[in-house]
Amino acid sequence: MQDLVLLDQIERTGCALTLTTEDGSCGVSGRVTSALLQYLADLESVPPSVLYTCGPNAMMRSVVELARKYSLHCLVSVEGEMACGFGVCLGCAIPTPGGERAFAYACTDGPVFDAAKIEMP
Ligand code: FES
Repeated sequence: MQDLVLLDQIERTGCALTLTTEDGSCGVSGRVTSALLQYLADLESVPPSVLYTCGPNAMMRSVVELARKYSLHCLVSVEGEMACGFGVCLGCAIPTPGGERAFAYACTDGPVFDAAKIEMP
């Protein structure tokens, strides 16, 4: 519980908050994507919404899949390794299928991207 930063501030916003931990030590036991799927499935209709996600790539890919399933806009914060940080080494390249350029760079174009415009790492 002490590892959950800004919890008081988040709770004061009045936003619905569901905490999950894989070991069940706090909140719902299991993966956050399971809780998100349950939340979306329980809604009678999903209002136009934006999903924001950051964290491990596998988790973000699951969130993006849910966003597509429910026709939600999704923004992902890509946290790849960045060697130079200013667009020279190309180490943070992210494919952008159908985009004006073949790749975007997390360091100079991101790190937050519209999930519909990139190929998730
Ligand atoms: S970190 Fe070098 S191009 Fe992005």
